[in-house]
Parts: sequence; structure tokens; C-alpha cells
Amino acid sequence: MPAKTQTVGATYQVARQNKKKDTMPITILIGAQWGDEGKGRVVDWLAASADIVARYAGGDNAGHTVALDGEVYKLHMIPSGILHSDVVSVMGNGMVINPVNLVREINVLRKMGVDITPERLVISSRAHIITPAHIALDKARELALGDNKIGTTLRGIGPAYLDKTGRAGIRTGDMLLDVEEYAERLVNAIELSNEDLRSQGLGTLDAREAAHSYLEAADFLRPYIRDVSIYLYQALKAGKKVVCEGAQGTLLDIDHGSYPFVTSSSPTAGGALTGLGVGPLFVERVLGVAKAFSTRVGGGPMPTELHGDIAQHFRGSGVNFWDEFGTTTGRPRRCGWLDVVMLRYAVSVNGLSELMLTKMDILSGLDELQLATAYEIDGDRYDYPPVTNEQLERAKPVYETMPGWREDISNCRHFSDLPAAARDYIRRVSQLCDVPIDMVSVGPERDQLVLKGTSEGLPTAAQAM
Ligand code: GDP
Ligand code: IMO
Ligand code: MG
Repeated sequence: MPAKTQTVGATYQVARQNKKKDTMPITILIGAQWGDEGKGRVVDWLAASADIVARYAGGDNAGHTVALDGEVYKLHMIPSGILHSDVVSVMGNGMVINPVNLVREINVLRKMGVDITPERLVISSRAHIITPAHIALDKARELALGDNKIGTTLRGIGPAYLDKTGRAGIRTGDMLLDVEEYAERLVNAIELSNEDLRSQGLGTLDAREAAHSYLEAADFLRPYIRDVSIYLYQALKAGKKVVCEGAQGTLLDIDHGSYPFVTSSSPTAGGALTGLGVGPLFVERVLGVAKAFSTRVGGGPMPTELHGDIAQHFRGSGVNFWDEFGTTTGRPRRCGWLDVVMLRYAVSVNGLSELMLTKMDILSGLDELQLATAYEIDGDRYDYPPVTNEQLERAKPVYETMPGWREDISNCRHFSDLPAAARDYIRRVSQLCDVPIDMVSVGPERDQLVLKGTSEGLPTAAQAM
């Protein structure tokens, strides 16, 4: 009979050792709203003290912006850690990958001086491949839905996940097969989707021609593909720090979002574990990122949406790269007051250990700010979102008015530098959501961050992890 300690698994032992040091190796970063919260810039900052940054969901529907020394990087599939030369970027099995667009993204980044090699970028062999037929089907479905369309990014995301769960998809690992066999799988997959297109009376794709560029991409990507779950397990056992980079946001989650106006993956905290193949005992922090106001792109309910001058103030005119126009599609984003009901929900669904607010600088110049602290629906008060979308469509926000501020805060670096009204706003959101807010951002650049409780200056990312 082995001694009791010998029966304890390696994961548990690492977890226990790390617990003693009072730190676990994984930080999960989640979008707490409808996406575009500024996740990319926060991941870039956290990456300074991480060894690995791993994306776990979505595909090139995401657009993560990182501004660094006047250069603006737009990342769609590649994790935002790629801008740190000593960080390995990982693309998990929970992602859907368009290989041709991925090669393009790698080449754009290389032209901008980013070093990308198989030592710096690891792609899961279990991610699913988006084919040109998925893109055609995405367009066809949106067209058929007419006024009820979801407003997808038309990147083929939904149809690719549909094939995954329908067990008809092809995976990144298939690129490691003999070329003829991979080509055959590709052609078969496209032909299968062609049947769908045909049944809708739509034009079909020439499967062989469509497969051609995919074979070229496979030659390029082959050295990057491996088993990510085992790679991460070994790294975690060796004490490496991992940041899991969420894409999309809590309210776009296939299970927990405003279905059907959602994406087809799991951007919430649970998705990080299944989307990378890592266990929960390694997780230390779940950090939610929210904008200081609300935005949404695409269809679906948005109780605090505004249409007048305030919405325009939030959106900007499009001259600045941080104005509210989609990073992936260029569509103007819908804008509104901060919806605390949705944030409270994000805290609960993800078990957030902390929340961060971005774009606080954009609130400058408004006399008053409104916080939606609850909804009123058919005469009843709701502190959390209602069960059905129909109720959500009827939700009237219950607003609490707070004083605004006029000062430009983009050069603030300490909490004490912020105007009292800005500090009160942050404190009130934290109170209403019952979650600590120790960090806000006041501009898109890496150092435009304000951290609570520091009088000597901005702590290093290592101090913050
Ligand atoms: P993500 O998808 O969550 O990574 O967010 P996006 O990159 O799609 O959109 C966020 C936009 O806000 C980007 O253009 C960022 O550069 C910008 N941004 C992030 N934080 C701040 C901030 O504190 N102030 C301002 N003005 N812009 C910010
Ligand atoms: P990041 O990671 C904002 C939205 C689309 C649409 C819905 C479904 O940059 O925050 P899809 O193409 O996924 O089938 O579209 O989800 N959406 C996003 N909105 N930010 C994103 O990503 C998004 N990814 C998808 O606009 O409403
Ligand atoms: Mg985005």
C-alpha cells in the first residue's frame, strides 16, 4: 500500500507548493462586457511578468489593440503577449483558426519587427480550422436572418464551431498529416458545407481551388503545431507563469450571454480551462476588464444604449485609433452608460477576483455620469439580468447620477492624481459590484495605467501579479 502522500497527483502537489508561496501560476483575463473592453492592452501589460500568454477561445472575430511607443498593433488570433520577446504565445484548442489569415497576421507582425518563430508561438493541434465554406455559410445565415441578424463578424466563426460540436470539423493537427490526406479532408469538409449552401439555393465553392491556399498555409504553420495541454502542464509544473487571454466578453458567451446574440464559444472563465486543457487548481486570479462605459457591436439587447451627444462623446469621430469603431470590422460600436447589472453578472459568472476599468479618460468632460444600478422590468426591480431576452429588451435601467469631471486625466499615474469625482466613480462601481478595482487605464499606451495604493509610482507588472 503506497504512502498517502504518494497517491497525491502532481497537479495537486504543484498547487500545494504554490499555495505555500501564496501564488498560483495562472491569471485568467476576461472581458466583462460585450467585448472590446481593452483586454489586449491589459494582457500586454500583464505579460511583462508572465512566461506564457495563451488565447483559449474565438478566432479572428477578435481584434485586440496594443499601443506601444506610437506603434499600434492589431492582433486577431495571435496572443497579445507576442510583443514581449521573452514570452511564449500559445493558441489553444478552444480557438477556431483560419490558417490563411493566421499566416497573413504573422507576416504583418513580422513586417512591424515582431519576431515570430515556433519557439515563440505554439499552436494547439486540437484547434478547429475555419474553411472558406464556413465563411460563406456565415454570410448566408446572416442574410437569411434579415432584420434579426446577429451581426456577426462574418469570419466563419459560428459555422466552424457548429462543425466542431457536430463532429464534422477538421483540426489544426490535420495539417501534420500527409499532404494528400490533409487535402482530401479539406476537400471533403468543403464539399459537406457546399451541400448546406446548395440547400439554401446559394452558390457553392470549388473545393479543390479553395483548398489550395490552405495547403500553402499548412506548409508554413506545421512547425508551430503541438499538444498545448501537455506543453502547458509541463510549464506549470516548472513554475512558469501563464496569463490566459480572453477574447470577446462575458455577455457574448454561448451559454451565459444574451443568446442568440452571442458568439459560438465560451469566453468566460470556465472556457479558459477547457480551451487550453489545464486544470483549475493552477488558477490564482480571474481578472475582469470592463470599459468605464458600455459598448456593443452587432445586434442584441443593450439596456443602457444611448443615441445622442453622450453616445457620440463615447464613440468619438473615428480619427483616433481608440475611437469606438470595430478593430476587426470597422463597424461603429453602440455606446451607453456603464451597466452595473451586467458587470455584477460578469463578477458572478466568472468568479472575478478583481475588476479593472479602461478608458476612464473618455469620461472626462461630462458634467454628470449615470450608472445603471438595476433594471425595472414590468414593475419589478432586477439586480441581475432577467432570464429571457424578451424581458431584457423591456428592461429600463435604474440610474444613479454621479458628478463628472472636466480635467484631462491621461497623465495621471497615481490614484491620488485623479479628480475626486473619478475616484468616487471607481469606488462606487466597486461597491455596487462587490469586487475590488485596483487598476484603471487613462489612455491606450502601455504606461497609461493608474494603480491603487501606490504613492511612489507605477508598480512593475511583477509586483502586480
Ligand atoms: P479588446 O478587444 O478588448 O482588446 O479591445 P479593442 O482593442 O478591440 O478595443 C479597445 C480600444 O480602446 C483599443 O483601441 C485600445 O487601444 C483602446 N484603449 C484601451 N484602453 C484605453 C484607455 O484607457 N483609454 C483610451 N483612450 N483608449 C484605450
Ligand atoms: P474582442 O476579442 C466585440 C460579436 C459580433 C456579433 C457576435 C457574434 O475583440 O473583444 P461572431 O463573428 O463571433 O459569430 O459574432 O459577437 N463579437 C465581438 N464583439 N468584440 C469581439 O472580440 C467580438 N467577437 C465577436 O459583433 O455581435
Ligand atoms: Mg476588440
